[in-house]
Amino acid sequence: MEGAWAFILSASSFLFLLFLLKLQRSNKRNLPPSPPSLPIIGHLLLIKEPVHRTLQSLSDRYGPVLSLSFGSRPVVVISSPSTAEECFTRNDIVLANRPRMLFFEIMFYGGTTIGAAPYGPHWRNLRRLTSLKILSPHCLAGSLAIRLEEVRLLVKSLYEVAAVAGGGGFARVEMRSRLQELSFNIIMRMISGKHYFGAAVEAGDTEVARQFVEVTKEMFELTGMDPGDFLPVLRKVVDFKGRERRMVDVAKRSDVILQGMIDEVRSRRKRSNGGQEVESKTMIDSMLSEGYSDDIIKGHILSIFAAGTDTSVVTIEWAMSLLLNHPDVMKKAQAEVDNIVGRDRLVDEADIHKLPYLQNIINEVLRLFPPAPLLVPHESAEDCMVGGFDVPRGTMILVNAWAIQRDPKVWDHPTSFKPERYEGLEGDHAYRLLPFGMGRRSCPGAGLANRVVSLALAALIQCFEWERVGEELVDLSEGTGITMPKREPLEAMCKVHDCKIANVLAQL
Ligand code: HEM
Repeated sequence: MEGAWAFILSASSFLFLLFLLKLQRSNKRNLPPSPPSLPIIGHLLLIKEPVHRTLQSLSDRYGPVLSLSFGSRPVVVISSPSTAEECFTRNDIVLANRPRMLFFEIMFYGGTTIGAAPYGPHWRNLRRLTSLKILSPHCLAGSLAIRLEEVRLLVKSLYEVAAVAGGGGFARVEMRSRLQELSFNIIMRMISGKHYFGAAVEAGDTEVARQFVEVTKEMFELTGMDPGDFLPVLRKVVDFKGRERRMVDVAKRSDVILQGMIDEVRSRRKRSNGGQEVESKTMIDSMLSEGYSDDIIKGHILSIFAAGTDTSVVTIEWAMSLLLNHPDVMKKAQAEVDNIVGRDRLVDEADIHKLPYLQNIINEVLRLFPPAPLLVPHESAEDCMVGGFDVPRGTMILVNAWAIQRDPKVWDHPTSFKPERYEGLEGDHAYRLLPFGMGRRSCPGAGLANRVVSLALAALIQCFEWERVGEELVDLSEGTGITMPKREPLEAMCKVHDCKIANVLAQL
């Protein structure tokens, strides 16, 4: 009995000492400033949609390195170029981890996908494959024909509507669904070699595409902040609006579609070479040749699709909306395309680098409307320091690119759309303009995104005159969704420029 008391006494003293030590350590820490918080839930009640705007106003009050707790999870929000630079230079490796999130675990193959995986050999392997075998400049040159053809189909479909329009030749067109088809087809043709939307596509394929779009849309809706991620104790007892069950259901449905895509490529490879493996062409081919498991391939299809389609769609849609509200900028861009390309042929990707004003427009669109306003959350793998403050290991890091890109201390007239601001500043805006992130975890698709957005925008400007549907400006309110889409899908009036370009379009 005496022995038991002695054990209990020494164990409690040990725990008490441990507690004191922890308290002393956390008192010694110089944590970033933080608003008052509530027990257990921390600052969760402060976080309202759109989150990047809420975090911006908190950072305005508490500073560019802000400490919050989302339930039990410590969070640091970064909102200045210099602190973002510290994150992605000195601390780049320490902050290259991703936090574990419920939706990654359930819908993204246990968090083994490129965007979700922790920094380590598995992630490096996927990143190498993506940068060298799928999105390298060499591979992008190989997929040029896909982009040209899909952009041709886009302008041709608009031409067909505009050609039969009365009222001075202007036709009213809805842009979002057309841009979604463009982006979906480009990405899916690179992934699986198949065209899913369009006149010449089999009904079965369009149905698969429709289901896949539906499933990924549901996935996007479930990828926001999840109470179960921040209050894991309650996760066992409270079913937060059935989210977890919905995630499991969506994951099952998406898995069936993705497996179908792999099986189709596998049997095509067998057929086309008498049972022997054929040379790699698509992303699925490359991954099958390298012996990746079906689950890793499915996760990669999902990641590339999720990261690569909507981001380009919203960028082109915001760009067109801003151009419609700024006819002077539209005119200048049209003059540039006319000068460099003319109207005897359709613009090509080789022309893009000769169109600096167009590039400035795209930079300005991505500054005002970054499709990932808080980038993708990072996590500290070790204790580190940012802006003179301690950031403990296991802290979720949110870089508020949206706030940095609209900061009046960093940009003149930050909310104005002024593509001219970049003239003479080529490449001189690192860490002030970071829509693709920076460092090891930055976007590997930036090169592809730039090609798709530039080519589509150049072709739309080259072929058509554009006007708003009414007198009033296009509404630039943000809707909900992780890629910060425009609240209302864009509608505009379009008319073929002249008979020269009409001849080109008629022959497409
Ligand atoms: C305008 C278009 C795009 C924008 C603005 C954009 C932006 C971003 C951002 C901000 C990140 C996170 C960076 C970070 O964690 O710090 C990211 C990650 C990623 N993006 Fe993009 N992206 C775009 C298009 C694309 C495209 C076309 C693809 C592929 C086809 C792609 C593939 C990825 C992948 C795989 C990741 C995860 C990288 C990792 O965790 O290692 N993105 N993107």
